[in-house]
Amino acid sequence: MSHNSITNESETFEIGETTVHRLGFGAMRLCGEDIIGAPDDEEAARKVVQHAVDCGVDFIDTADSYGPAVSERLIGEAIGNRDDVVVATKAGLLRNDAGDWIAHGDPDYIRNQVLTSLDRLQTDTIDLYQFHRPDDDTPFEDSIATFAELKDDGLVDEVGVSNVSAELLDRAREQVEIATVQNRYNLHDRGSREVLEICADEGIGFIPWAPIDGDDLAAYGDLLDEIAAAHDATRRQVALAWLLERADVMLPIPGTSNRDHLESNVAASRLSLSDAEVQRLTQAAE
Ligand SMILES: NC(=O)c1ccc[n+]([C@@H]2O[C@H](COP(=O)([O-])OP(=O)(O)OC[C@H]3O[C@@H](n4cnc5c(N)ncnc54)[C@H](OP(=O)(O)O)[C@@H]3O)[C@@H](O)[C@H]2O)c1
Repeated sequence: MSHNSITNESETFEIGETTVHRLGFGAMRLCGEDIIGAPDDEEAARKVVQHAVDCGVDFIDTADSYGPAVSERLIGEAIGNRDDVVVATKAGLLRNDAGDWIAHGDPDYIRNQVLTSLDRLQTDTIDLYQFHRPDDDTPFEDSIATFAELKDDGLVDEVGVSNVSAELLDRAREQVEIATVQNRYNLHDRGSREVLEICADEGIGFIPWAPIDGDDLAAYGDLLDEIAAAHDATRRQVALAWLLERADVMLPIPGTSNRDHLESNVAASRLSLSDAEVQRLTQAAE
């Protein structure tokens, strides 16, 4: 029970056997510049995670490649292993000091990474383990089989995929139950509409990354400003409220390292858009 004035009022969704509020938190931004290394103030980053949980956020997204290893470590240090918070992490991307993101779905690598993630997250089981991005050099089925095996072995409760087409989602589902899909999706970028529709039909969680990307939202500035003014809200809050209305399986994970931004994002969960407003926003880019 939160004692904050800001509380997460979003509806809930079942990930496996755990119920989470649909408005989550993306922990990629807790790292240093370009998502490499530690932030200048680690304690402030841990406090943002703790404050998210105090505000009723019970779904946190991270990845081994954020830092790498930094975001997961900070989350582990901030909240340890809590039964009432689902921490979703990912494996399948390498980093280098130029900041590149390199797909690497090699089974041995993933089996190694899960052990390091368990250690940093201070847990015995990863709540939701997502394959970060398909790797052209490793057969997709081999990577997914490894995630399935980790689930069978009890190291992972649920399996998710990220950055997949409808066809790859189908292929993954032939091998293991897929709890969630994480693809880029926001008001402006609806390239994953077909995958979202499959998720909605099949009851699979859809986690839109970059849900409030400022550059993308600028394309709908006037419409967002008009609706935001009517609700005494911000553009980003309207964009988040629209996502939450868009589908019952939608689990947005706005990312921030800033406590005020976090509060503003969580407060979007109590914004109630009219049907007409939702329709105008939906039609704006369809
Ligand atoms: N699966 C994938 O391939 C993939 C790729 C990218 C991201 N992700 C996940 O998705 C999450 C969200 O994506 P994202 O962080 O790229 O994009 P986002 O959440 O759409 O936007 C984050 C940006 O918006 C700013 N921001 C957030 N809340 C704000 C507010 N209330 N007011 C003003 N500025 C605000 C943040 O800066 P401040 O820190 O200054 O607030 C940051 O620059 C990530 O944290 C990560 O967990 C997954």
